Amino acid sequence: MTIIVTGGAGFIGSNFVFHMLNKYPDYRIICLDCLTYAGNLSTLEPVMDNPNFRFVKESITDRAAVEKLFEEEHPDMVVNFAAESHVDRSIENPQVFLDTNIIGTSVLMDACRKYGIKRYHQVSTDEVYGDLPLDRPDLFFTETTPIHTSSPYSSSKAGADLLVLAYHRTYGLPVTISRCSNNYGPYHFPEKLIPLMIINALHDKPLPVYGEGLNVRDWLYVEDHCKAIDLVIHNGRVGEVYNIGGHNEMRNIDIVKLICKELGKPESLITYVTDRKGHDMRYAIDPTKIHNELGWLPETMFADGIKKTIKWYLDNESWWEPIVSGEYQNYYEKMYANR
Ligand code: NAD
Ligand code: TYD
Repeated sequence: MTIIVTGGAGFIGSNFVFHMLNKYPDYRIICLDCLTYAGNLSTLEPVMDNPNFRFVKESITDRAAVEKLFEEEHPDMVVNFAAESHVDRSIENPQVFLDTNIIGTSVLMDACRKYGIKRYHQVSTDEVYGDLPLDRPDLFFTETTPIHTSSPYSSSKAGADLLVLAYHRTYGLPVTISRCSNNYGPYHFPEKLIPLMIINALHDKPLPVYGEGLNVRDWLYVEDHCKAIDLVIHNGRVGEVYNIGGHNEMRNIDIVKLICKELGKPESLITYVTDRKGHDMRYAIDPTKIHNELGWLPETMFADGIKKTIKWYLDNESWWEPIVSGEYQNYYEKMYANR
């Protein structure tokens, strides 16, 4: 089995590469990643010498490069993680989100049509469903919840999802889509809530909470997401969407307070800053379908996962220090200086 994993130098993609090489020693895993600011080759260092692994630095929007890779590798599957993934950046500059997330997806699927494929899997997000009100805890996103997006990021992911389903219906491409809730764990890029708060707290820097911090996210440990995708690509039904989430809803402010507590830092570091434009209030996944059809259940409870994650950041400063001391500083200044 040969699998092209796009975006494998990013947060979830790299965890998925490790999971697959570990679990399937006879699979060939090819990581296709153009190494944007969010891609980090040092993450993949432990597997670079693995004979079953190959890294290819190209963009999923580059049709010639993608076709060349298909001609060389004859993949059985493509799992597409490659994306621009940060909502705040999409508010600043939507264009690259449309190019990568929508056009890139079409380029990959065109290659799948041209060369043949057993499975094209699109890694999507619960953000395509928009948000839920805080005063209706009985409501959850199911696979039939209408697409209703809020940000340029979620709109670009929704556009890609629609295209994936259209390629299935129009051309019979064997596709699956998974829509997961917020992930956390090792190799999470420092711009996102949990690693940002851990790293700022370690430096005794202000912890910038948007609005009142009452927005709710449904957190899943990254390994549980990788295991779910593994099940979907092997046993999921073609043409189907699977929601992935572990019923772990938390308010942002409670996560930040928990991080302070775990690190022994004062809550006085918390600073309330101007809210994100169009900020989604609540995400909450109903994972009944993937549980019933594929037997998936989350294995890591949040209380354990957050401890493991904080420990990972404490033990792996050599991974995040070069990131936060480089170009990221300009980003941080631009987004947070006068907020
Ligand atoms: P990330 O930003 O950490 O990594 C994205 C990776 O894609 C990087 O390695 C980057 O270099 C690569 N990439 C970007 N543009 C590319 C291009 N044109 N060609 C090739 N590679 C390119 O993202 P992540 O958090 O790991 O998310 C991975 C996927 O999972 C995304 O599709 C995202 O929408 C989805 N997702 C993320 C979450 C989450 O909580 N992080 C939740 C649900 C779904
Ligand atoms: P984020 O990690 O960007 O994920 P997403 O927007 O895809 O859910 O943000 C998670 C939540 O944390 C979201 O409600 C925005 C909030 N947030 C802050 O309050 N402060 C921050 O500095 C960041 C990055 C996020």
